[in-house]
Amino acid sequence: LDNGLGKTPPMGWNSWNHFGCSVDERVIKETADALVATGLAELGYVYVNIDDCWANKRRILVFVAPLLAPDPNTFPSGIKALADYVHGKGLKLGIYGDAGQLTCQQRPGSLGFELLDAMVLASWEVDYLKYDNCYDMGISPQKRYPAMRDALNSTARSIFYSICEWGVDDPALWAPRVGNSWRTTIDISDSWESMTRIADINDKWAEYAGPGGWNDPDMLEVGNGGMTYQEYRSHFSIWALMKAPLLIGCDVRNMSPQTLEILSNKEVIDVNQDSLGLQGRKINVSGKDGCLQVWAGLLSSSAPEIRLAIVLWNRCSTASMISVSWLELGVIFDVIVSVRDLWEHKFLDSISRDSFGAEVDSHDCKMYIMTHIPLFHSES
Ligand code: DGJ
Repeated sequence: LDNGLGKTPPMGWNSWNHFGCSVDERVIKETADALVATGLAELGYVYVNIDDCWANKRRILVFVAPLLAPDPNTFPSGIKALADYVHGKGLKLGIYGDAGQLTCQQRPGSLGFELLDAMVLASWEVDYLKYDNCYDMGISPQKRYPAMRDALNSTARSIFYSICEWGVDDPALWAPRVGNSWRTTIDISDSWESMTRIADINDKWAEYAGPGGWNDPDMLEVGNGGMTYQEYRSHFSIWALMKAPLLIGCDVRNMSPQTLEILSNKEVIDVNQDSLGLQGRKINVSGKDGCLQVWAGLLSSSAPEIRLAIVLWNRCSTASMISVSWLELGVIFDVIVSVRDLWEHKFLDSISRDSFGAEVDSHDCKMYIMTHIPLFHSES
């Protein structure tokens, strides 16, 4: 969507994966504090997004207008006060709504109230809207989602528009004109099976993503406890390479050093935030059921160099060598300048002329940036 937002994938935090419906203004404020204190805010995690359950069960009549209102038990100070608090920390506030009659947790939806609700969100100085798909009343998403786009556009405020349509109606085919991101899959859960399945579905839509509009394979589970360190590192690396929104889904007030280490890897974040905005893809599989995988994507570079991000991902149950020929990576007779390991934070000493590979532990990955100069440049 050409609204000036989302030139790179959004980064921040969302309440749903860890807190579900048990979210309140204290959690949001303490999360904002923790994002700053841990250094995550400085790395780019700026959106603090409240998911479902913030709203009062009924609209409140104000001068006969039925307005959305926060639940007075959990958000007694109101959303505007919360936005002020979050903005005071240099962060942005995100909120959640639904393109149907009710949200999934049965708070008021915005179907038929788009203009009014967009006006209210803008008056609260909200910066991001995640717009869910429950209780659709049989109306096509291709009607319901543009209605809120137009309503948001009619406000004076720039609001990132995140379409949460769960990939139901192939949103990659129409949502680039409607929102800044669109979910390509059902909800993620905190397991290896869910994460790998979702990565594969999201991969199919790679060609539709770019600056202003991103495929959204759902939020991060890193730090929630259901996967190992290696699995979370894979999750984070692949989400970064796929140019997915990097929305942290754990309790950032109580993170382990390992969780913080993964989420703070600036070299991996830089791949995600690269200005070219090209979604990396699965380009080579081998091993049993294709469990040895190579994913790669082109990055921005200054001529004559070319930069490629590469993930060697071992989805098999034992450690294994994963290798790929340079030709398969699209690198032909080139001068390789350097290969940087983004998790070891160092350059590789020696590189073979024929192929590229490494030993990778089970369910772990290795991630690199390879810089090379095409031969026609280096010869001239
Ligand atoms: C479904 C969405 O896909 C989830 O991310 C979350 O927002 C829930 N609804 C909230 O009810």
